[in-house]
Amino acid sequence: MKVAMIGAGYVGLVSGACFADFGHEVVCVDTVATKIDALNKGEIPIYEPGLDVLVNGNRFAGRLSFTTDIAEAVKGADAVFIAVGTPTRRGDGHADLTYVYAAAEDIAKAMTGYTVIVTKSTVPVGTADEVEAIIRGLRPDGDFSVASNPEFLREGAAIDDFKRPDRVVVGAEDERAREVMRALYRPLFLNETPIVFTTRRTSELIKYAANAFLATKITFINEIADICEKTGANVQDVARGIGLDGRIGKKFLHAGPGYGGSCFPKDTIALVRTAQQFGAPTRIVETVVEVNRQRKLHMVDKVAAACGGSVDGKTIAVLGLTFKPETDDMRDAPSLDIVPGLIARGAAVRAHDPQGMKEAKHLLPEAVTYCDGPYDAMTGADAVVIVTEWNAYRALDLTRTRQALKAAVMIDLRNVYDPAEMARQGFSYVSIGRK
Ligand SMILES: NC(=O)c1ccc[n+]([C@@H]2O[C@H](COP(=O)([O-])OP(=O)(O)OC[C@H]3O[C@@H](n4cnc5c(N)ncnc54)[C@H](O)[C@@H]3O)[C@@H](O)[C@H]2O)c1
Repeated sequence: MKVAMIGAGYVGLVSGACFADFGHEVVCVDTVATKIDALNKGEIPIYEPGLDVLVNGNRFAGRLSFTTDIAEAVKGADAVFIAVGTPTRRGDGHADLTYVYAAAEDIAKAMTGYTVIVTKSTVPVGTADEVEAIIRGLRPDGDFSVASNPEFLREGAAIDDFKRPDRVVVGAEDERAREVMRALYRPLFLNETPIVFTTRRTSELIKYAANAFLATKITFINEIADICEKTGANVQDVARGIGLDGRIGKKFLHAGPGYGGSCFPKDTIALVRTAQQFGAPTRIVETVVEVNRQRKLHMVDKVAAACGGSVDGKTIAVLGLTFKPETDDMRDAPSLDIVPGLIARGAAVRAHDPQGMKEAKHLLPEAVTYCDGPYDAMTGADAVVIVTEWNAYRALDLTRTRQALKAAVMIDLRNVYDPAEMARQGFSYVSIGRK
């Protein structure tokens, strides 16, 4: 099948490359010319493990190409995916649909023959209806359907998630659209991946409900971690003790500095706004949003407490800036609250991240010193804070760490190390929900 993918970001590029790998003929479109130029030269503009091999393999095989010309990509396509960003709209917290609607207009002008327009971006309930109205307005005689197909991939494991998903969700109102979606995902049917066919509105809500649930699960264990700290219990054992219950499940029960990333923060806020708009407020998700916001800020207090009550005049090594390992994505990362918070309280920050430093330089205060590696960052520092659990920080040489630091103080916001071992090694060690 011929596929056009509008938006060559984390979702569009991975989805486009994976559809090409399934054997479809895919053209990825982006408005950012430097991104498309890079892709046409075989360079991958984001960090996602395995994506370079997948993109270039399919490019050389002639199944995957890149352009800034949306009309060229859409002409003759059987399916056009909209995978553009839907960030938080300034001022009111709703999802900003400007890019989605702009793409819909461009598609309307260029489509030929029967075309299924698919919203892959995370969009509020009713957006597919609006996309249909926009296209119908511009092309009253157009032969097309609009479907919803939310994406559930996780950055850092995106290719595997796309090719071996827990499920595929498709919202469509007519059989013709469902047929095209079935054909696109046929390789997954063969693997017996569950495919949930439903209405567009339900499909749109499934995505928000999934993200809000996961954000709630994380926030729940984070609050349990706070109770552990006050009572002397161990949050990792609590997580294991409850996670082994099949009704609860082990995943998303890792206590930490608060969730971040390109999805949970904006999607929880957008769901809160949608719920309010429709007169069905979700007080659970409202609370999750607020608890998580405060938690990230509270991490600065935690670091200060571990440094004897204040970080003023101290040098703090920060390991990990991205919102999670194996990505260069800095969107809503906890480091964006923690690092400025430390600097505001008088600390000097020496930071390292294996992939995120380039982007971090645009987002963090200029005062941050970026370092070549973890030991460089820790040299002469009064304490080290692990903010993101990159593999490079999971097995630090503790002797070298102690020698690099001015004081052997570690604040481990990801529970990477064992408290008893750290005490044996002579560290003053603070983690989340464990003594
Ligand atoms: N990143 C994730 O892990 C993830 C997972 C699931 C769902 N999503 C959702 O997928 C959507 C895209 O997210 P992302 O992380 O890939 O965003 P992104 O910002 O990485 O990519 C969006 C791309 O769309 C391009 N674009 C914007 N308007 C365009 C237009 N009119 N024509 C062509 N290109 C255009 C931008 O230049 C950008 O490259 C969002 O709705 C997001 O919520 C993201």
